[in-house]
Amino acid sequence: MTQSIIDVQALHKTYPSSNKAVLENVSLTIKRGEIVAFLGKSGCGKTTLLNMIGGFEPASSGDILLDGERVTKPSQKSIMLMQSYGLLPWRTVYHNVLFALENSTLSKAEKHTRVLKGLALVGLSDRLNAMPSELSGGMQQRVAIARALAIEPEIILMDEPFAALDTFTRYFLQDEITKINKEQHMTILLVTHDIDEAIYLADRVIILAPNPGRIYKEVTIQLPRERDRASRDFQHYRELIFNEFHLSHEPPAIEYNI
Ligand SMILES: Nc1ncnc2c1ncn2[C@@H]1O[C@H](COP(=O)(O)OP(=O)(O)OP(=O)(O)O)[C@@H](O)[C@H]1O
Ligand SMILES: [Mg+2]
Repeated sequence: MTQSIIDVQALHKTYPSSNKAVLENVSLTIKRGEIVAFLGKSGCGKTTLLNMIGGFEPASSGDILLDGERVTKPSQKSIMLMQSYGLLPWRTVYHNVLFALENSTLSKAEKHTRVLKGLALVGLSDRLNAMPSELSGGMQQRVAIARALAIEPEIILMDEPFAALDTFTRYFLQDEITKINKEQHMTILLVTHDIDEAIYLADRVIILAPNPGRIYKEVTIQLPRERDRASRDFQHYRELIFNEFHLSHEPPAIEYNI
């Protein structure tokens, strides 16, 4: 039996500045090595949920357990990968990745090995001395992924990590993510607005409903790991999730002044 790595139990969140609940009664269990994608309308609380799992935002009530331990602050077990790459423009690719290990107790040689390994995993071994400004957006995102990998976290939390990239760079990075998940057995939580990305990457897709944010439906993707976007099975999931996504929220009221 695969052990669960994340347990979210009856989570509620209301930000102090408002009295409206953002998340209500969210419970979910995530197994080690699983890729779980979250889909939901803008504002339904996806980033909030990821921030809470990462320990950056406190729960109003309920619990989040990582490996059985209650999350109260950010830990080295989980790393958040943002849409903005967050690279330091005055540091080379190598030193940007090394930056993630600055406070670690690893030896200098171990840090060096981790940096090289992380950059090799994302195919950037030949750009160690480049500055971020000399890289394409996709390459900068790969540096950010390498930086997360160098920490060797158990969990990577990704908040729309590829939203700003062109289709083919996105496809390339999606394949990198599946490779890393397979090789390193990392657990990956991915927030995305892209249904295809969710089906291509995830073992499970969780659709959230808004106002307040809650789990609406869970779809297990029973496709082999090597996925074909053009296959009938893929198309079946595309239709299923598209329909569920639309049912998860009321369409916006549009007023016509004729
Ligand atoms: N720090 C904050 N203080 C007060 N309210 C917040 C804060 N952060 C988010 N919210 C509110 O919480 C709700 C959920 O926001 P969140 O960013 O989690 O949504 P989201 O699902 O990630 O949306 P998007 O898809 O647009 O990124 C929104 O109504 C937002 O205005
Ligand atoms: Mg968000």
